Amino acid sequence: MLYRDLILRQLQFLPPETAQNLAELFLRHETPWILLGKFFNKDISELNTEICGVPLSSPIGLAAGFDKDFRMLRSLSELDFAYITAGTVMLHPQPGHSKPRLIRDVERKAILNCLGFPSKGMEFVINSINSTSKNRLAPIFGSISGTDIGDLKESCMRLASFVSGIEINISSPNTAGLKTFHDPIRLSEMITGVRDKTEKPLIIKLPPHKNESNEIDAAVKLVEVCIDSGADGITVANSHPIKDSRLSVGEGGLSGSGLLESTLRMVSCFRSNFGPRITINACGGIFTGDDVFSALNAGANTTQLYSALVYRGPFAIGHIKKELLMRMKSEGIQKISDINSIKTISD
Ligand SMILES: Cc1cc2nc3c(=O)[nH]c(=O)nc-3n(C[C@H](O)[C@H](O)[C@H](O)COP(=O)(O)O)c2cc1C
Repeated sequence: MLYRDLILRQLQFLPPETAQNLAELFLRHETPWILLGKFFNKDISELNTEICGVPLSSPIGLAAGFDKDFRMLRSLSELDFAYITAGTVMLHPQPGHSKPRLIRDVERKAILNCLGFPSKGMEFVINSINSTSKNRLAPIFGSISGTDIGDLKESCMRLASFVSGIEINISSPNTAGLKTFHDPIRLSEMITGVRDKTEKPLIIKLPPHKNESNEIDAAVKLVEVCIDSGADGITVANSHPIKDSRLSVGEGGLSGSGLLESTLRMVSCFRSNFGPRITINACGGIFTGDDVFSALNAGANTTQLYSALVYRGPFAIGHIKKELLMRMKSEGIQKISDINSIKTISD
């Protein structure tokens, strides 16, 4: 515990991208994590659940962006994530925006970024998956993105057989062109095209919407289109657009604990509009077992987190699972499906 806090504190003094690269370097070495995993990785049957038919050890997954190039899959599995959303990988390699493009606000447990999809590209990612040992690997969802429907179809075609499902990111605040898929007709055309290329679960990662009637109506319309076009689920939501002159392009996405309230509001809005017709992953501000409980109670099937891994450290998932179990016990709840069944089973 003391060592963990000490290391986390040291990492927080480094420039954020250096700290991220250092963490990545550690996590690319599988052996120490496999050894540690034997002690920390505990199956708690009460937390078992599923996403779109894929069995999960718990409702806590890793959000996209932490393992952009699918290089840490085995170590992240040992950290006890129930599933890993790897990527976002682009079809072709690209460098992303110039630095500074990552800022940490430790006080607010927040992260600001304008990375702009740095990616080693699909070929690198496929090689990376092929060289990962498959033993005890958590289910992988591959996050893809792009503004061209043909590119997205090809990305899906090349990646789908290596993963349990595909998440399509139409919501990064750092790529203006992605807004093309906030238009219902274009969104429908894109999902139908990608759906044609795989039978694996297809999840659409949505942008956040404000609590204003015009934004709510537009967001509900987008989810209607997702369902009608053949998507199986939605991830709600991506980081929130923010202006900040410290970032190289003057704006970016905000992640972290401050997002929880709006995540719960959006999940609840979609669940009450669509009942059990869609799987929902709550993403944004999930830090504790209580947060996971609240998200499931609002109608989510699973949760995804990124910032909590940065601020609570590599053993965050073990702690969150224990907290969730304690909360379930105090509420007299035996299993995960009992938390959200009322909202997801009845229409
Ligand atoms: C540095 C950084 C990079 C990210 N990259 C991606 C990405 O490539 N694709 C994506 O869909 N989301 C990306 N995200 C957004 C996260 O997946 C998540 O939606 C957001 O951080 C909110 O969750 P959190 O509050 O648990 O961090 C990124 C977030 C951060 C902080």
